[in-house]
Amino acid sequence: MEQPQEMELASPSEERKELQKGVVSPEFAPKIAKMQLVGSHPEVYEPCDDSFLLVDALFADRSNLINQNPKFCLEIGCGSGYVITSLALILSEYCPSTQFFATDINLHATQTTLQTLANHGVHCELVLTDIALCLQKRLWKSIDVLVVNPPYVPTPEDEVGAVGIVSSWAGGFKGKMVIDRILDVVDELLSSNGLTYMVLLSENDPHEICQVMREKGFGSRIALQRSTEEERLCVIKFWRE
Ligand SMILES: C[S@@+](CC[C@H](N)C(=O)[O-])C[C@H]1O[C@@H](n2cnc3c(N)ncnc32)[C@H](O)[C@@H]1O
Repeated sequence: MEQPQEMELASPSEERKELQKGVVSPEFAPKIAKMQLVGSHPEVYEPCDDSFLLVDALFADRSNLINQNPKFCLEIGCGSGYVITSLALILSEYCPSTQFFATDINLHATQTTLQTLANHGVHCELVLTDIALCLQKRLWKSIDVLVVNPPYVPTPEDEVGAVGIVSSWAGGFKGKMVIDRILDVVDELLSSNGLTYMVLLSENDPHEICQVMREKGFGSRIALQRSTEEERLCVIKFWRE
């Protein structure tokens, strides 16, 4: 396989700011989803700091992702489709045979993601399902790249899984109710060299999550972290040890 060349580019976040200022011409911007081509719906999570952090982490780790030459990539909880479309664009030049899958429990999210994908000319199979339930048998231990920006906000437990946009952020106790269910199926989904990238909030206790995953045989490290006035977010990368 042709070796990927390291590109001297700022992170997509920095490029976004420069683009807004008109400093960078669009053809030199990194290949990620363009915000003006991302679909929207009042009941679908609009890309926000957490989505941008996840895409920045994937972009920063692109050499590893490309060297992996992934066969199957999956996003759980795709929302508007900004992340899975960006991942597909990051990989498109070097890994043309990679297949993409995305799930969401919100019908409007799967429809909006289809729109975003089409607007960028990217193909991905969309599945309306809880976590990855309908794909687990078919993609048993074969996902090479799993990406997740889960509902992570601590909320009352009865808000978790509610219909519509509430399910985008409602995470129940410590914000971990959906996160724990996703982590429970990582072993069933991930291939032997598979990588998982997951957004976590400091209140989710990332350190404890990494300990639990370690007991299940997964190594971990912080791929990227960022603080805003409201929250401290990180992207944790997991792999089989
Ligand atoms: C924080 S939003 C992230 C959306 C998008 N990935 C992004 O980064 O902009 C979380 C997404 O997970 C979806 N979701 C919540 N619970 C889910 C579950 N049990 N199974 C699948 N998707 C779920 C929500 O509908 C929402 O689209």
